[in-house]
Amino acid sequence: MSAEDQSAPHEPSTESVVVYDRGAAIEQSDAFENPGLPPHRPRQTDLHPHKERRAERQVVGWFLVSMIGSVLAIVAYIALPITPGDMASVRMNNLFLGLAIALALLSIGIGGMHWARQLMSGHEVVEERHHTRGSVASRERSVEIFRLGDEESGFSRRTLIRNTLIGAVALVPLPAIVLFRDLAPAEDAVEAIAHTMWEPGMRLALDPSGTPIKATDVTIGSAFHVIPEDLKGIGHNEGYLDQKALAAVLLVRVPTDRLKEAPGREGWSYDGIVAYSKICTHVGCPVALYEQQTHHLLCPCHQSTFDVTEHAKVVFGPAKRPLPQLPITVDSEGYLVAQRDFTEPIGASFFERLHHVDPEHVQVSAPEMETRA
Ligand code: FES
Repeated sequence: MSAEDQSAPHEPSTESVVVYDRGAAIEQSDAFENPGLPPHRPRQTDLHPHKERRAERQVVGWFLVSMIGSVLAIVAYIALPITPGDMASVRMNNLFLGLAIALALLSIGIGGMHWARQLMSGHEVVEERHHTRGSVASRERSVEIFRLGDEESGFSRRTLIRNTLIGAVALVPLPAIVLFRDLAPAEDAVEAIAHTMWEPGMRLALDPSGTPIKATDVTIGSAFHVIPEDLKGIGHNEGYLDQKALAAVLLVRVPTDRLKEAPGREGWSYDGIVAYSKICTHVGCPVALYEQQTHHLLCPCHQSTFDVTEHAKVVFGPAKRPLPQLPITVDSEGYLVAQRDFTEPIGASFFERLHHVDPEHVQVSAPEMETRA
């Protein structure tokens, strides 16, 4: 419609068109007559008492099947435990747990539908739209409707159906309770990450080959993804990935005149080579990107940025503390080795706060402590 048309006064063109004030829409009058409801057809369960009883037994059966499903879920969880590193046990546990929970939920749904379609009052209802005000009269009417619904559905009268439904609904959350328990680690979470497999003299090796690294291999500007040399002796079924996730390290070399070692950390680096935990102190993503011009390590998850020339302090992003540093040196053959394990928990800062202070823990500078607070 043109601007001129919009500004012009509207005149009704035919009697079937309703015209509103300028700017409002034009609505065609309803061209159809309300056909009303089709004639009521009684169901088999309305006509034959024995079919009604059979439908009742079927509904009860579905609710009983649901109860069995809930119990089976718990049995499957206990009887088919997940063995760390064993993918077959994970598959079996998930398969049977899922099947049992699906059976429990599906049976409640089918039972409820069958109850509504075959046994609840079968007459057609027209519900007029009205304002949803909570007046006293409407509340009284609600109570009346609730009572009527109870009467017509037979919820109070058909005690066997009602009780089996209550039983089925009550048991359905039980598998969830058992599963939620599994969200927390079985052991102390802080203890689980407070120590890694790094120990004095353990060589730093390339990830994933496990080849030990000599200090002379690490040129300025290069970055190495590092694992403990002894990691290759651990099988995948013996916690290889768990140990790797704790001990993964990034190794870089910067000009020695650029390196600002934190008080108490003198001697933790070797000829400009520094090693930091690869696990971001925000929420634990692998810090995998190194920018050699700025000497910044970047976490790709939320862009936390750490300066390797200043004990990996946070220069940008949501991380709240520097990456834990691994003290390193070289052995008699020139290979890079760890001086000891990390002195603080690796990973998200939350765990560092819960950590009981290690007497050997090397404190960071006072300004940095203020930043943490
Ligand atoms: S996990 Fe690294 S910035 Fe969020």
